[in-house]
Amino acid sequence: MKKLKKLKISLAILLFVFLFIQIYRPNIPVEHHKGDTPILFSNKVDAILKKSCYDCHSNQTDLKWFDQITPVNFLIADHIKKGRSGLNFSDWGSISRPDQNAKLWEAVNQIIQGAMPLKSYTLLHSEAKLSVKDIQVLKDYLSSIAPKQIPDTAKVNALNRQYKNWTVEKPAAEFKDLPVDINGITFIPDYKNWVPISSTQREDNGTMRIIFGNDIAIKAIKEHQTNPWPNGTILAKVAWDQLKDNRGNITPGVFKQVEYMIKDNHKYRSTAGWGWARFKTPKFEPYGKTPSFTTECINCHRPMENNDFVFTPPLEH
Ligand code: HEC
Ligand code: HEC
Repeated sequence: MKKLKKLKISLAILLFVFLFIQIYRPNIPVEHHKGDTPILFSNKVDAILKKSCYDCHSNQTDLKWFDQITPVNFLIADHIKKGRSGLNFSDWGSISRPDQNAKLWEAVNQIIQGAMPLKSYTLLHSEAKLSVKDIQVLKDYLSSIAPKQIPDTAKVNALNRQYKNWTVEKPAAEFKDLPVDINGITFIPDYKNWVPISSTQREDNGTMRIIFGNDIAIKAIKEHQTNPWPNGTILAKVAWDQLKDNRGNITPGVFKQVEYMIKDNHKYRSTAGWGWARFKTPKFEPYGKTPSFTTECINCHRPMENNDFVFTPPLEH
C-alpha cells in the first residue's frame, strides 16, 4: 500500500511539473494567410510541398495540437528556424530564377535521398510522407523546366572529341603551377585516373556529373567502411554541360567544374572532417573569396550528416 501511495505522489508531481512547464513556449512566428496562396510551380507540385514541407519551409506553419506541447514545441521551433533559414517558400519570389531552379533541384534531391522531410517529423505527421507517385510528379516538373537544347550535330561531335581527349590520361607533370584555393587546397589532377563511383544528370540546369573516388575511397567501399570514411579518402565530383544530339543521345559538353571532399578528421576538424574545394572552368579557377565559403558546401551537405556528409551511395565494386 505504501508503495502505491508513493507512486501516486510521484505521478502527481510529474503531472504538476508537466503542466507547469507548459507556460514556457517558444516564439514561432506564423503568418496566417486568408484564402489561397499563389501557386509557385503547378497545382500538383505545390500541393505536395504544402503537405510535406511547408510546416518548416514557409511562414505558413500549420501546427497540430501535439506540436504545441512543451517540450515538443521547442524542438519543432528549432526545426522551423533552421528549415526556414535554408529554404523558405514564402520568400521564393525574392531569389533569382537560377537560384530557384537550384533550390528546387536540391529539395527534390533531399527527398529522394530520404533526408527530407525529417524522420522525427514524419513519425507523428505520417501524412507528410511522400509517395512514389509524389516523387515522380516532382521529377517530371524538374525535367519540364530543364533548358532545352537545340540539337547541333557538329557541336556535339566537336565536344565529343574534346571529351575523349580529356579522358585520355594526362600526366600530372603537364600541369605546371597547380592552382591552390584560399584554404590552401591544391588542385588534384589525378582524379581523372580514379574509379567512377556514380554519375548523375541534373535536370534543372542541364549538367552531367561523375563522382570519382581515390584508392582509399574504393578500398573503403569494398570493405563497407564508409561511415565514417577513412582519413585519406578523396571524392571528386566533375560536372559538364550536357548536350543532346538530334537522336536524343546525351553527351558531356563543356567542362564546368571539379569539386573535392578530402577526409582528414584532424586537419579538417572545424569543417565536418572534410576539406572542401571547387575549381571552375577549364582553367580550374579556385572558387571562394573567403576561407568560410566552405559553410555553403557543408550547409547543403548537412542533411547527410548521419552519412558522413556524403550524398552518393557507394556502389558495390
Ligand atoms: C520538421 C521540419 C521540416 C520539414 C517538414 C522539412 N524540412 Fe527540410 N529542413 C529542415 C531543417 C531543420 C533543415 C536544416 C538542415 C538540418 O539541420 O538538418 C532543413 C533543410 C532542408 C534543405 C537544405 C536547405 C539549405 O540549402 O540549407 C532542403 C533543400 C530541404 N530541407 C527540403 C525539404 C523538403 C523538400 C521538404 C518536404 C518534402 C522538407 N525539407 C521538409 C526541417 C524540415
Ligand atoms: C546546392 C547544394 C550543394 C552545395 C552548395 C554543394 N553541394 Fe556538393 N553535392 C550536392 C549533392 C546533391 C551531391 C550529390 C551528387 C549529385 O547529385 O550531384 C553532392 C556531391 C558532392 C560530392 C561527391 C560526394 C557526395 O557527397 O556525393 C563532392 C565531392 C561535393 N559535393 C563537393 C562539394 C563542395 C566542395 C562544395 C562547396 C564548394 C559543395 N559540394 C557544395 C549538393 C551540394
